Parts: sequence; C-alpha cells; structure tokens
Amino acid sequence: ADLQPLHTLGLLARAERLSRLTEAAQLAPLLAGAVAPVRVLGGGSNLVPGTTVDGTVIKVELQGRQLLGEDETAWYVAAAAGENWHDFVQWTLAQGWPGLENLSLIPGTVGAAPIQNIGAYGVELKDHFHALTALSLADGATTVFTPEQCAFGYRDSVFKQAEAGRWLIADVLFKLPKQWQPRLDYGDLRSRLAGEAITPQAVAAAVMAARQSKLPDQAVIGNAGSFFHNPIVPAAQADALRAAYPGLPVYPHAEGRAKLAAGWLIEQAGWKGRQLGAVGMYEKQALVLVNHGGATADDVRRLMQQVQADVAERFGVQLQPEPVWW
Ligand code: EPU
Repeated sequence: ADLQPLHTLGLLARAERLSRLTEAAQLAPLLAGAVAPVRVLGGGSNLVPGTTVDGTVIKVELQGRQLLGEDETAWYVAAAAGENWHDFVQWTLAQGWPGLENLSLIPGTVGAAPIQNIGAYGVELKDHFHALTALSLADGATTVFTPEQCAFGYRDSVFKQAEAGRWLIADVLFKLPKQWQPRLDYGDLRSRLAGEAITPQAVAAAVMAARQSKLPDQAVIGNAGSFFHNPIVPAAQADALRAAYPGLPVYPHAEGRAKLAAGWLIEQAGWKGRQLGAVGMYEKQALVLVNHGGATADDVRRLMQQVQADVAERFGVQLQPEPVWW
C-alpha cells in the first residue's frame, strides 16, 4: 500500500501490508494472520516512514463519540481512536463541554493523542484525561489504563517507553470540567483576545489563528509538526546558556531542570528557512521540518543529523527527534 497519502510528511513510502480496523472485534483475527512486526497507524502526523515498511500496518478507523456521564464537577466524554482530534475538540466545545480548546488544530487522531501526551499553548492532554481502553497487539484483549498507568510526561507516556509497540489504543475518556478556567498564559494568546469576551470558543479561535500564523498547512506542505523535542537540561546549564545568549527562551521545568526553545536554537544555528536537498526547516518556525517534494526518510535523516550537529557544536545541546520512525 502507498503510505505517502497516509502520513503528513508526504515522504515516498510504501507498506508491505496494510489493514484497516473499523471494529475492535476485528483485531484478534487480524493479528492471528499478521506478519510481524505489527505497527499501528493513526493520522500519520508524527511519523517518518522508511521507503519500504515491512510487517503489517494497521490503520485505526474506529469511530464514535459520546457523553458517558457527568457528576457535579465534570462531563465524561469518550471518543474512539480513529476520530479526528481537531473535529472532536470542536464538537466538545459545541456541546458546551470546555477544556480542550487550547489543543485545537493539532493534527492527528484521538487514539494517537495519549501516546505522546499532545500539548500546546499551556495545556496537555493529561490535564483532561480520565482513562483509555487499549487492545493488546499480542491477542486483541482489552485493558483499561488509568492516568497513573499512562505515566504521562512532556511529549511522553508509557506507550513510548515500557509498553511501546504492545497496544492499539481503541478509545479515550476525557474529564471536562464544569468550572471552566481559561488558560491564556502561553505566548500571545492574551493579546490575541484583547477586548473580546473570553469564552472557550474564543480561546479556540485564538489558538487556531496563532497556529495558522506560523505552522505550515499539512495539506499544502508536508511536515510532522515540531520535529524535535524542546530539550530539557539541568537548570545550571540553562543559566549558563542564558548568560551567554540573553535572547534564549527558557521555561521552568520540574526537578531543577529547565526547558529550552529548540526552535530558537535551530534558528540561531542558521537553519530557519534553509533547505538540504528536498527537505528543510520551515521559514516561519524553525522547529518544523518540511518536505519540499519528493523526499524520503533518508533525506529527513540527513537534515536531522546536520541540524543536531550544528546545534550541539554551537550550544552543547543534543536535540532529540519527536516523530516515530518506521
Ligand atoms: N522561536 C524562535 N525561532 C523559531 C521558532 C521559535 O526563536 O524559529 C522561539 C519563539 O520566538 C518562542 C519560542 O521559541 O519564544 C517558542 O516558540 P513557539 O511558541 O512557537 O513554540 P515551540 O516551543 O517552538 C511548542 C510545541 C508545539 C506547540 C507550541 C505551542 C514542542 C516540541 N513543540 O513549540 O507543538 O504547538 O509549543 O504550545 O513542544 C508539536 O508538538 O508538533 C507542536 C507543534
């Protein structure tokens, strides 16, 4: 199967075998006949596929969303893994269940969202997560994961660590607060909303405008969002860098550490808007690697290594890629 239209970087890539999963009950029989390794595909928005992907790719197309219940403090809303993330968020807002508005316009599916604990504009998925149902890739059996079991961190969860490659997330349950608190502290959200009534819809609109002003449209120019993690370093190292480079954005982080803006490091290293072969770092946001057409995973790897080497040489910081490599 051609993978180029099934992931957002638009690389030249194909899968040796691809199956679509539209019912959870189809998984066990599908696994019984599958050639290993089995890989799970959602919206393909955080993926670097190799030219030929071996084994079996399962594209998750489970659909459905509903209010499961409510109590005094929250609405409990479930969505199947194949639902589009942004559409789901807009639907919750239209129903009058706020909380996910800062995560508007993040590409991909509901099922992929917990894997890297998607986050933007001061909110992470974990802030409104209640539970998820996962199907074992060994036998299709169902297990519920609590927030503790998911072990969420910055762009991280147990599904990228100890349990990597073992589960297909089938649906996710969110806890959306009846006491709504707008979160406007990140970036220019507050100034974008100046003079407006602060509603969940208005915050969503401001987030969408902010994203559209600097992130490339995946339908027009291939990309996988931020290509590197914002590096988390010891606070002493951040202080030393800050002394040498006063413009460096530094965000506080837990346990005596600090998070640096990778986009700033990449821009200062000269890579903003610069191309290497068919790929480059985006002209409006240096953290986003873009495909100018006809690229393969090898082109992506070459640029990644060049950017990592230049940032390491200049700042002594090792950048780590964010997407999954197949
Ligand atoms: N910056 C530069 N040059 C650049 C890009 C950024 O100097 O080319 C500076 C900005 O001026 C700003 C700082 O770096 O002071 C942070 O930039 P921005 O607000 O654009 O956010 P980011 O740290 O680059 C992160 C997430 C994004 C998320 C935004 C908003 C990661 C790896 N990325 O980017 O997530 O949308 O914050 O919350 O944490 C994604 O994960 O794919 C993604 C797009």
